[in-house]
Amino acid sequence: MQQLELQDIQGLIIRGYGNLSAASFLLLQIVDQKRARTWLQKISEQITPGDQRPDRESLNLAFSFPGLVALGLDKTVLDGFSEDFQAGMVTPHKQRALGDSENSAPEHWAWGGAADPAATVHILLMVYAIDEERLKNLTDELQAGFSAGGVKQIHQTLKTVRLAKPKEHFGFRDGLSQPLIEGLSKAQGVDAALPAGEFILGYRNAYGLFTERPLVPATAPYADALPQAEGVDDPEKRDLGKNGTYLVFRQLEQDVKGFWDSVLQATASQDGSKNSQAAIRLAAKMVGRWPSGAPVTLTPERDDPELAEDNSFNYHQNDEQGLKCPFGAHIRRTHPRDSLDPDPGSQKSLDFADRHRILRRGRVYGEPLAPSLQPEEIMAAEDQGERGLHFICLNANISRQFEFVQQTWANDPRFNGLYADPDPIIGPGGTFTQQARPVRKAHHQLPRFVQVRGGGYFFLPGIRALRYLAQAE
Ligand code: HEM
Repeated sequence: MQQLELQDIQGLIIRGYGNLSAASFLLLQIVDQKRARTWLQKISEQITPGDQRPDRESLNLAFSFPGLVALGLDKTVLDGFSEDFQAGMVTPHKQRALGDSENSAPEHWAWGGAADPAATVHILLMVYAIDEERLKNLTDELQAGFSAGGVKQIHQTLKTVRLAKPKEHFGFRDGLSQPLIEGLSKAQGVDAALPAGEFILGYRNAYGLFTERPLVPATAPYADALPQAEGVDDPEKRDLGKNGTYLVFRQLEQDVKGFWDSVLQATASQDGSKNSQAAIRLAAKMVGRWPSGAPVTLTPERDDPELAEDNSFNYHQNDEQGLKCPFGAHIRRTHPRDSLDPDPGSQKSLDFADRHRILRRGRVYGEPLAPSLQPEEIMAAEDQGERGLHFICLNANISRQFEFVQQTWANDPRFNGLYADPDPIIGPGGTFTQQARPVRKAHHQLPRFVQVRGGGYFFLPGIRALRYLAQAE
């Protein structure tokens, strides 16, 4: 098994900092290359490595591709970053692939979408703390150093909130199912753990290969600080990618009232009266888990908090026909486990799904519409302000992992034999079909409940690599 260099890996890859309930994300631009390098060197001392379990605060930092260009990185090195990262999230091709059209089109985004160079994000600074007070102190301290450090904040701070349990705004437990990474203690003895190279560059991936990553000639200035690249023809290359990964950020605004209004209407009796229990049941079928987190495939008729964190299920044997968890449910399509061809129920099918996993590290933003997150209270509440999910995921290969999940599984209305059913939670709107006997039940013309408000692709470097980036010219 590959030994992970935890002390060089940014902590966010290893853990989601669930104990640090306050978090803010700062979007920065480099205005003075030289001073920014000095600032980065200083900051690199504050970055939380994966071998520490911070109990008060944590800092992680990632670059956009324009950010690496602004740092003055050599073109031959820049060319070594993946094409997806270089191209970014907002090319016409990516917009089509990710479904970022109409209200979700980049021209409407609050950040990350504008072609205006003055608004281009270079650095994403991720600040976590045990409480709001500590978060504010740490953020104030960081911000005080920006100007002298040759960087400026180019958008208001992206704040987050912590909902009870922890849930997302539609009222469902989130962050439950994560891939296990070989080499980490949680994965010990687990057969289904995935090779580290799926989520961390510089290690072998599920194909036994090293995912494409930026390399530096050993003769380049400061290259000594970087580890030797493994698995390449030229042993004289140093690995700038090692212990880093790609970070996908999408600010996703949720229309909470619209969501519950739609499911209440879809489940109303013939006389028009609404039924909250029926609405919650339909919403759970759309997600694939009940509000507590219990998987509908294990408890199809009612929520069962005892099963809230259960992640030990597959679909084929228990629910081949989708009678418990519909084929189109959010979790059945973003991680189909053993349910897809080739040969559903087989190891081959599991392996296929495992080539498209992501590590989710998102945080909720905006005040909840109603503290209980119950449909009746949500419908009665005054709708003020915006709320949603700062969706963040980590992966070594953006196109094979995040983009594949979003495009081929979530957005495709023909996913797994369906006809007009995109993902009912994050898709562009359409039909949601519940497989049932004697006849299936389809809910048509569901609107889009989640709009994109900002985003970008980032490189979260290893800590040595961050120091190299702060020095190299
Ligand atoms: C506002 C937007 C979103 C909401 C409200 C949402 C909600 C949820 C919920 C409630 C779960 C079940 C709990 C869990 O397993 O952690 C879940 C799981 C998941 N979501 Fe999302 N999600 C959103 C966006 C996305 C996006 C953009 C993607 C990827 C493109 C995604 C991929 C996944 C995956 C891979 C799982 C785990 C499935 C499994 O392993 O069983 N989600 N989501």
